[in-house]
This record gives sequence, structure tokens and C-alpha cells, in this order.
Amino acid sequence: MSYLPEPFRIKMVEPIKLIDKKARESAIKTAGYNLFNLRAEDVFIDMLTDSGTGSMSQFQWAAIMTGDESYAGAKSFFRFKEAMDNIFAFEFFVPTHQGRAAENILVNILVKPGQFIPSNMHFDTTEGNIRARNAIPINLVNGQAYNPENLDPFKGNMDLQKLREFIISTGAENIPFGTITITNNAGGGQPVSLENIHQVADLYHEFGILFFIDACRFAENAYFIKQREPGYQHKSILSIAQEIFNTADGAWMSAKKDALVNIGGFLAVRDESLYHKICNELILREGFISYGGLAGRDLDAIAVGLYEGLEEDYLAYRVGQTAYLADKLSEAGIPIMHPAGGHAVYIDAGKMMPHIPPGQFPGQTLAVALYVEGAVRGVEIGSVMFAHPDPTTGQMVYPKLELVRLAIPRRVYTQSHLDYVVQTAKTVFDQRTKYKGFEFTYAPELMRHFTARFKPL
Ligand code: F0G
Repeated sequence: MSYLPEPFRIKMVEPIKLIDKKARESAIKTAGYNLFNLRAEDVFIDMLTDSGTGSMSQFQWAAIMTGDESYAGAKSFFRFKEAMDNIFAFEFFVPTHQGRAAENILVNILVKPGQFIPSNMHFDTTEGNIRARNAIPINLVNGQAYNPENLDPFKGNMDLQKLREFIISTGAENIPFGTITITNNAGGGQPVSLENIHQVADLYHEFGILFFIDACRFAENAYFIKQREPGYQHKSILSIAQEIFNTADGAWMSAKKDALVNIGGFLAVRDESLYHKICNELILREGFISYGGLAGRDLDAIAVGLYEGLEEDYLAYRVGQTAYLADKLSEAGIPIMHPAGGHAVYIDAGKMMPHIPPGQFPGQTLAVALYVEGAVRGVEIGSVMFAHPDPTTGQMVYPKLELVRLAIPRRVYTQSHLDYVVQTAKTVFDQRTKYKGFEFTYAPELMRHFTARFKPL
């Protein structure tokens, strides 16, 4: 397979250093074996997240210099609005400082305790915002999503039969809104087909339920649709994106992903009365409606980044880079989630370290090992992140997969950086039977992966 070279060249560099193994062992111990607690300077290749970690282009940096910092009605807002209206075309929207701020506002307005929010799979902050209101996030992704070997082109698709049965058994009145995450971050960065998005929208609407899209990686999803879904080969990425959002009553987005910026987000809706409620919440928590917790210059960077994120040669390189890493890890015998997703490669830690039970965190064990062996920082997406007590029985519910995500920041690392990651993963893989698991020494109730501390078993 061939991969498109970077459609850019490098004009400014940020030095990184590889500290020695002893220093890494000491750093991770001090961090309580939680990679979120490391100092970034102690990391060589940082694949913790693709969120806010990308490089901006010369056009974005130039746009930043034109930022209008007026409190209300800044020129920057109207440049942002032009991109919003063209790509997403919702009647109303507000900027927010990031995705979870939009989630917080939406959930605060619409959700009551005991209600249910279905999705293909909720990511951590969405799930956390719902649980924080004593409501229940429900994952109804199709069954193939849990089979890492399955090569279905749209493994992020919602199971429509399950969704229908869920709505009927729960009662539409207990579902304030339904959603779908594109691409499906918690399930391997897998795309959702446009056919499925249309069907999901129709199903929610049949029961009078509002349909929202969690749009963080919509451009990567649109690119996969163009590549893989019959009938879309000759459409532009922009027109595919427009068709996606045309199905929905609203959307929220962390602009830190496919808008190629370091901070920002939005919440968009069609309903005017809902928009007015959103404005009140926004003003209380984020800022005035024309800046939403961002500087004017941030809005300008997003306005440019949204279009750059839709460029086809950029997306070919982006998705190609992820596929390159996935192919190399696979060739080395390392079990990963197939096919390669958009923004990250997910190593199947459960399969790689079957001697470590979910309660002893195989994903965390692998993530720590990758750091100790090569100062590579990934993130556990398994029981540390998603195991929780069942609200009725109190029994621990473990997620179906124990993964370690190696997220690829946009336009940041080169192929030789990725080769180094593969080499590190190979070293860990060759000695996989020697690792033991972890237990918590501290864990908060919600979103515990961010601040938990561990000790080795
Ligand atoms: N929804 C999805 C699907 C996400 O992946 C994220 C963030 C959010 C919402 C929240 O956005 O961070 O701007 O508040 N995901 C990051 C990640 C943090 O590492 O995948 P945010």
C-alpha cells in the first residue's frame, strides 16, 4: 500500500527530547502510573490525544493576526459564522471554548435525572456530562464494532434494530435527545455511513426525538464516506459534510480536532427557543454569544481551519498516516483494531495481555509499558475509562474492549516518528507476558482516568 506524502513542508520546529529509561521509570512512578500526570517534556512521541495538539498552517497564523477582540459582534465572529453557515448550515449556533462546554450546556438544558441518551458510542466527556446529571448514556453501536478483526467499512454504524427496540421499551418521553458520534472515537475511530446517519435521523424523528451529531471528526468521517460508500465517490467532501448535518436538529463539535485548532468548539441548533436557552447558559458559563469563551483570534483560526480540514489532499495524507501506523504494527504481529480508523490506532491490550483481567487494567499496563520502553504516550480506552458500577445492582460493568489508543496529532509527526513508535511497541510486544497489572490508589467517581493514581501489582 502506498501513502500520500505530507502535503506541506515544515517551516518552524519544536524540539523534543528522549530522556533515558531510568528517568522514564522515575517519571511514571511520580505520576502515579497515570500518563495524564506526566510532564509533557518527559514524553518523546505524544499520542495521548489528537485534540488541540495539531499544527496550524501559515494561513491560520496569519488569520490570528487579524483577530478582532471586540466583546460583542467582532469581525472574527462573522468570519467564523460564514464557515459555520456554509459547512453546517444550522439556523443558530454559539461558539464554546471546547466540545465539553457545548455538551454541558446542552445536557443541562435538555436532560433530567433518570433519562436516557442513546448514541453509537459516547466518548468520555459526553458520558461524564450525562452521568453527572444522573442520566444514563446508552451505547447502541452495531455488534461488529466490538470485533477488532472485522473489516466492515462502517464499524461506527448504529444498530438500527437495537435503537428501535430501545426507544420502544424506554418510551420516547424518557429520551430528551439522541446522538451519534462521527467518527466513533470510543470504538476505534471508525466511521458512520451516510446511509446509517439518514436512517438514525429518521428513526429518532419517527418518535419525535431530537437528533444531535457529535461532530468532532466529521471531516475524517466524510472522507471515509467518499472513499467507501457507494454513490459518494464523485461528491466533494464539503457536500458530503453538508448532507450529514442536514439530517440533524443540532450538533456540537470540539474544534480541537477536525477544525485544526488548539482550542474551540460550538453548539448549533435549528430550534429558536432552544437557541435562546443556550444563549442564557452560554452567557452565564462561557461568555457572550459572539465569542463563547474564546478570543476573537481563536474564531479566526477556526474559520480557516474548518476549510483546511476538508481539503482532500490533507485528508488523504491524514487517513493514510493512520493506516501506515496500523499496517506497520499489524505486520509486527501486534493485535490492533481493524480497519485503521481516522485519527488513531487502537492496540487491543485485552488480546495482547490476556493474563491480566479487566479489573487489573491491561490497557493501563500496556500504556505504561509503552512509556517506559520508549517515552511514547498513548491513552487507555478500557476499564480505567469506562468501567462503572451498575446503577441498580452496584456490580462492576466492564467495557467490551480493553484498548490503548495511539492518537495522531494533525500535521505534527513524520513517518520516522511513527517508525519509532512501531519499534517501541515491538519491544513491549516481545516481552508482553512479563507485565503485571495495576490497582487504584486513588480514583474519583466520574472521569477517573484523568486524575486516578495507581500502584503496580
Ligand atoms: N466528543 C468526542 C467524540 C471527543 O473525542 C471529545 C474529546 C469530546 C466530545 C470533547 O471535546 O475535549 O473539546 O471538550 N476528545 C478528546 C480525545 C479529548 O482525546 O479524544 P473537548
